[in-house]
Amino acid sequence: MSESGLDQARRLMEAGGVHPQAIAVFAHSYDMLAGGETGILAEDDLTPVDELPRLDDLDVDETAAAAALAATAVIKLNGGLGTSMGMDRAKSLLPVRDGLSFLDVIARQVLALRAQYGAPLPLVVMNSFRTSEDTRAALARHPELATEGLPGEFLQNREPKLRTADLTPVSWPADPTLEWCPPGHGDIYTALDASGTLDALLDAGFRYVFVSNADNLGARPDPRLAGWFAASGSPFAAEFCRRTAADRKGGHLARRRDDGQLVLRESAQTRPEDEAAFGDIDRHRYFNTNNLWLDLAALRDKLRANGGVLGLPIIRNVKTVDPTDPTSPEVVQIETAMGAAIGLFEGAAAIEVPRRRFLPVKSTSDLLVLRSDAYEVTDDFEVALVPSRTAAPLVDLDKTYKLVGDFEQRFPAGPPSLVAAEKLAVQGDWTFGAGVRVLGAAVVSSDGSPGTIPDGTVLGG
Ligand code: UTP
Repeated sequence: MSESGLDQARRLMEAGGVHPQAIAVFAHSYDMLAGGETGILAEDDLTPVDELPRLDDLDVDETAAAAALAATAVIKLNGGLGTSMGMDRAKSLLPVRDGLSFLDVIARQVLALRAQYGAPLPLVVMNSFRTSEDTRAALARHPELATEGLPGEFLQNREPKLRTADLTPVSWPADPTLEWCPPGHGDIYTALDASGTLDALLDAGFRYVFVSNADNLGARPDPRLAGWFAASGSPFAAEFCRRTAADRKGGHLARRRDDGQLVLRESAQTRPEDEAAFGDIDRHRYFNTNNLWLDLAALRDKLRANGGVLGLPIIRNVKTVDPTDPTSPEVVQIETAMGAAIGLFEGAAAIEVPRRRFLPVKSTSDLLVLRSDAYEVTDDFEVALVPSRTAAPLVDLDKTYKLVGDFEQRFPAGPPSLVAAEKLAVQGDWTFGAGVRVLGAAVVSSDGSPGTIPDGTVLGG
């Protein structure tokens, strides 16, 4: 009998030195994929979550907050490659403010909190095999960050990409590194355990971790949230924001009707007949920010009780083996998402946080806004909207600006002033001069482009 796709993948992973726990998790996910598992959550089986406790209303004692922070470590997810912005390295290495990269800002946020609260607050970065070297070099510029006895990073696992045709590992001799992929950020639970970081943190006296995306500079390890989470006794908590019209297509929080468990539902888990309910932001009001709080002791117990396999739902991510070559063979990358663990921890908690804790950079438009004068960086390295604003300006750059290299070239003097902008839409290919200001809503149309917006131009108003 010929070797099954799973057996081939297992053999490759073993030969490639992948940790047995990661192989077991992969095998579990593979079985779900091969079994046609869709993870569908029907609207009838869910009840909406109407009200969550709000960070701004919490009454947390200062001493309790400081004590919880002292038992908290910070993990940043940094294994992704920013491929949607045309990057092949960690997005967090990009400069974002005053010559500081995302990583520099994160480092300074942590150092400021340590100084303010006297908390050890270790910073640990989850890298993938593609992001580790650059990131370690960048963090070496902050030698005071290191915490004695604890690693500054742990590495994600890797798994074979599978041919969609028969779910066997793909072979790509032109560049064998492309035969492998990281298994999504849900891999954090496996990687934390298999790398020994989970035990190392617990042994060093850290009970909690705050986990967030490296590209979200709004995700500071807030001491009041640490205090709230510690007092809740929950094994797991996630921060949610209110959905707006712009968030209609993204996933939402709900409760399972039968047991009341909190769950996330993504669009891929939605039946066509439930699409209207899925997009109804008054019915399903909250989306996941990917800012999570974990009780490490509870995580370790759960992993031990389940043979190291948490059992997260899978995401079937279809790409080509060489993402830059659409004619290369089609593959499935089996991924899992970290936040979906909310459905697996009995007693998981959720809290509403304001938008200031969710400033993701998923596109060059997001990057332009964050770099602009609509935001400021406080003395504690908090990145916040300037006081005159209640919401970020809406920026929509043409596809010409999609890749970060093309984007940088078109703003040689930095971003235009957006402090008084409501909206900026750019169509076509324009290079912005120095001192350009946007007032109110402005559309730069494609007529006459490629072209230059001269120094000092005022757009809109
Ligand atoms: P995203 O999937 O939103 O962003 O991951 P990305 O991977 O950086 O960018 P694209 O989609 O390729 O353009 C959210 C966060 O999770 C991390 C990313 O580094 C980012 O901070 N991540 C993602 C991992 O750490 N590991 C993964 O396998 C995937």
